[in-house]
Amino acid sequence: MDTLVLHGGRPLSGRIAVSGAKNAALPAMAAALLCPGEHRLRRVPRLADVATLSRLLAHMGVAIERGSGRRGGELRLVSPAACRPEAPYDLVKTMRASVLVLGPLLARQGRARVSLPGGCAIGARPIDQHLKALAALGADIRLAHGYVEAEAPPGGLRGAHVPFDVPTVTGTENVLMAASLARGRTVLTNAAREPEVEDLARALISMGARISGAGGDVIEIEGVEGLNPLAHEVIPDRIEAGTLLVAAAATGGEVTLDGARPDQLEALIDKLREAGSRVEEIDGALWLRSPARASAVAVRTAPYPGFPTDMQAQVMALAAVAEGSSVIEETVFENRFMHALELRRMGADITVTGRTAIVRGVRKLSGAPVMATDLRASASLVVAGLAAEGRTVVQRVYHLDRGYDRLERKLRSLGARIRRVAAG
Ligand code: UD1
Repeated sequence: MDTLVLHGGRPLSGRIAVSGAKNAALPAMAAALLCPGEHRLRRVPRLADVATLSRLLAHMGVAIERGSGRRGGELRLVSPAACRPEAPYDLVKTMRASVLVLGPLLARQGRARVSLPGGCAIGARPIDQHLKALAALGADIRLAHGYVEAEAPPGGLRGAHVPFDVPTVTGTENVLMAASLARGRTVLTNAAREPEVEDLARALISMGARISGAGGDVIEIEGVEGLNPLAHEVIPDRIEAGTLLVAAAATGGEVTLDGARPDQLEALIDKLREAGSRVEEIDGALWLRSPARASAVAVRTAPYPGFPTDMQAQVMALAAVAEGSSVIEETVFENRFMHALELRRMGADITVTGRTAIVRGVRKLSGAPVMATDLRASASLVVAGLAAEGRTVVQRVYHLDRGYDRLERKLRSLGARIRRVAAG
């Protein structure tokens, strides 16, 4: 297993382009199951999760090719006339987002057999809302031997009112895709409002779907008989952008991010300003300059447009070196503070009680060997390592590789001393 070796204490400085969003690329890839033909996706990041979903789609009969050279961000997906509607455990277990194939398979093939997902160890993460919604569209759903077995009624799925009990990102995306090919009209209420949901809606609309309201909590879908292949450019990754901004703030640095969308990062930018950074949009890029030491912040995660749970771990690393006491409350997932223990091994002063962490900032963290426990926790350890004195070795980097496109190269180009040591 690869490790990352960092020598901290140097402010990040420079300019860099943000990659495509993992959480927008994955549902757009799944959308290729909705109709046969040649689909094209641009700005697809190079990530382990993208490779995993590619393998899963290939298992279903989709041929996938990545462009080379300057077209390296382009994915060409050729969907067959009929897909094999099965997602086996071995391919699904490492990535919860695999569940995104359920809606499209059911809509197009009339049936699907999808293993119950694995993914990050950050709480129970059920898929009851996905299943309830697909059942409302008429699907017959059974759970057997660790698999979801779903079948559409004769004549196919039919539109319905789908009230979500909790706003779920991939749940909303699954139903958006399924309802696009259902008979009649579907209305989703309490839908997730994340920019990635809106990006998927845009992709589906370009395929001929009739969707309105995406980005809000009520979405209407008028089913159509068939869709055309996809040609779509994925939005930039707001979490990668956010991670780089936080890393700059934690090191007292100054960075400019090309492609970052300030309108999709408002909650984070607010907190970075509260921590003393200047953040501006300059000529279509996002610029941040941090004071030598950040100030404490109060953060409460919430569904979009609230503060993203996917930035909570990184902000905790920032709070660990900020002046004063920060309060961080996690309301989206119930077990997402594993990084706190590792940060403490680097000298952070953090007390966790239930879903709240109190972080008393220290002047300096000290480098240490640490272990990544999930995707965003790994990013938090990298941020901490950049801010720490001495050498930090982050183990289990495969978690980081699930969701960041060559993060160490990007950080190196911003002046960080970080290198990957390959296993073996
Ligand atoms: C997506 C993101 C992930 C992010 C999360 C929350 C992708 C591929 N992943 O994950 O990076 O951390 O949104 O912003 O887009 N829930 C249920 N029942 C369900 C579904 C969800 O109770 O059927 C609960 C979850 O346990 C959680 C909350 O709803 O407490 C939000 O989860 P959800 O939005 O579904 O997360 P994901 O779509 O898995």
